[in-house]
Amino acid sequence: EEGLHSPHYPWSHSGFFDSFDHSSIRRGYQVYREVCAACHSLDRIAWRNLVGVSHTADEARAMAAEVEYEDGPDDKGEMFQRPGKLSDYMPPPYPNEEAARAGNGGALPPDLSLMVKARHGGADYIFSLLTGYVDPPAGFEIREGMNYNPYFPGNAISMARVLFDGLVEYEDGTPATTSQMAKDVATFLSWAAEPEHDERKKMGIKAVIIFSALTAISLYVKRFKWSVIK
Ligand code: HEM
Repeated sequence: EEGLHSPHYPWSHSGFFDSFDHSSIRRGYQVYREVCAACHSLDRIAWRNLVGVSHTADEARAMAAEVEYEDGPDDKGEMFQRPGKLSDYMPPPYPNEEAARAGNGGALPPDLSLMVKARHGGADYIFSLLTGYVDPPAGFEIREGMNYNPYFPGNAISMARVLFDGLVEYEDGTPATTSQMAKDVATFLSWAAEPEHDERKKMGIKAVIIFSALTAISLYVKRFKWSVIK
């Protein structure tokens, strides 16, 4: 059974000429880190990916260093713990699927790296899901531990509502309303699913300009060369 279709929102990055709102990516990272990362991994993003996008190299290095990573084997053949580096990937909240399910009443919080691509509606769906928790309509039977959300297929989801006004404190002073946090984390996850998005659009625009110029030149040359024959 399909969930309610999410409305289309005017994302700053959806147009042909539009790039991501990088302040929103930065706030969205904060929401991911402080809220979602308790349950959801983000396997495909390394600390270095944040550099020049939402954070400076020094900031990303400092955040990585706060996490302990297992490395090795060393020259004695032993594994060891070391602080994270820019090349390390975002740490997962659970060591394995069993632990993840055990922590979530049997349900598995999916990796969020490609979630925007994986679900119909993309960022619109994520925003709608996060802001869409309401009481079930009369007569809708909901199992213990499940939550009603009209946007989720089947309408009963094991993830409870996680965003509430004022949950995080944004350093840029943006009021952290539920919808602001949902927008920012959906923007962050859109970027995470396609980190090369801005570069791709820039290349596309350059390609259009270059090929238009080449077409104009070749038309001019053609008319010039054939003018004696006509
Ligand atoms: C599922 C996003 C926080 C536990 C999901 C899904 C998304 C999502 C997009 C997939 C829904 C689908 O399959 O269509 C987020 C975001 C969060 C967040 C953006 C932070 C703002 C959390 C937290 C927990 C959690 C803190 C644990 C306390 C789960 C679980 C599922 C899930 C267990 C699987 C639900 C099911 O299949 O019934 N989440 N989540 N999530 N999330 Fe989260």
